[in-house]
Amino acid sequence: MKRAKITIVGAGNVGASCAVWAAEKELGDIVLIDIPDLGDRTKGRALDLAQCAPVDRFDCNIIGTSDYAAARDSDLVIITAGLPRKPGMSRDDLVQTNVKIVRAVSEQIKETAPEAILIVVSNPLDAMVYTAWQTTGFPTHRVVGQAGCLDIARFRTFIAMEVGCSVEDITSLLMGGHGDDMVPLPRYTSIAGVPVTQFISEERLNEIIQRAKMGGGEIVKLMGTSAYYAPSAGTIAMAEAIIKDKKRILPCAAYCDKEYGVGGYFVGVPCVLGAKGVEKVIEVDLNAEERKLFSSSAQHVRELVSLADKFLKE
Ligand code: NAI
Ligand code: 2OP
Repeated sequence: MKRAKITIVGAGNVGASCAVWAAEKELGDIVLIDIPDLGDRTKGRALDLAQCAPVDRFDCNIIGTSDYAAARDSDLVIITAGLPRKPGMSRDDLVQTNVKIVRAVSEQIKETAPEAILIVVSNPLDAMVYTAWQTTGFPTHRVVGQAGCLDIARFRTFIAMEVGCSVEDITSLLMGGHGDDMVPLPRYTSIAGVPVTQFISEERLNEIIQRAKMGGGEIVKLMGTSAYYAPSAGTIAMAEAIIKDKKRILPCAAYCDKEYGVGGYFVGVPCVLGAKGVEKVIEVDLNAEERKLFSSSAQHVRELVSLADKFLKE
């Protein structure tokens, strides 16, 4: 069977970490692309990673370049190109610069890998998925954004820390945009099938929800730049579901029109991810309070997308 070809555009913290997880899982051959200004750094990063193969025992070809010809006919493209936020910045502050970067990258991908499935990671996420979709014109099921896998991982981590149980036994659901108004859903959160509310008081759970919502900012304050291990692990969980056609149900920024009454935007919802990309958006029952939180988060996404649209037309 032919190996999958995965191109990762943006070989910085998130992109390089994606390459590490993808190589360790032997998901396919990897092409790392970054700007020519970096000189041989991208090539060096790829060579360094390739030299882990004998130790970690994986077989895949890894190259680093600034030449998009190397991306030709990729099955999967992960876009992580763009500025990360610095302390004091919100994800939304990145929109003007990153729209231009993601548009430029998407134009190249449209030419070189027209059949690829695109996973967008650059921030502000919901607006960058829209930018990649608008620029490539790919069908909506082939364009998806990573946010929920990270946000829910943070929520699950904090629950495990609180309860002192294995993160593996925690399942949860989280919806909405990748902003501080994302919507973790405690009603759909359980530990080994037991509702989380039987382990944690409502008051404490609300504090944990708040910490998960602000989880990105917490890391930025600590590190002076944004997170990359957990974001790339989340991205590669999505990549693995697609490449292995696993039909996993993961929270992703997917195109929703009638779904949840979103009206034609990419927003975080539970999706079935398989070989075709987003194979289904799952509509779960939301109560009045959850619907209100989701609509307010979706409204924020709409505002961000109109801002992105303005810069896209420049
Ligand atoms: P970074 O600065 O370490 O890497 C970004 C890379 O993009 C740099 O190497 C840069 O040279 C490259 N780049 C810039 N313009 C490019 C272009 N036109 N073509 C190709 N490459 C280009 O930043 P980091 O930490 O890797 O973050 C990347 C993006 O991912 C940021 O926008 C950040 O906010 C976002 N992010 C999103 C997350 C999510 O959950 N959706 C989580 C973490 C980061
Ligand atoms: C995060 O949530 C910055 O979006 C990135 O860590």
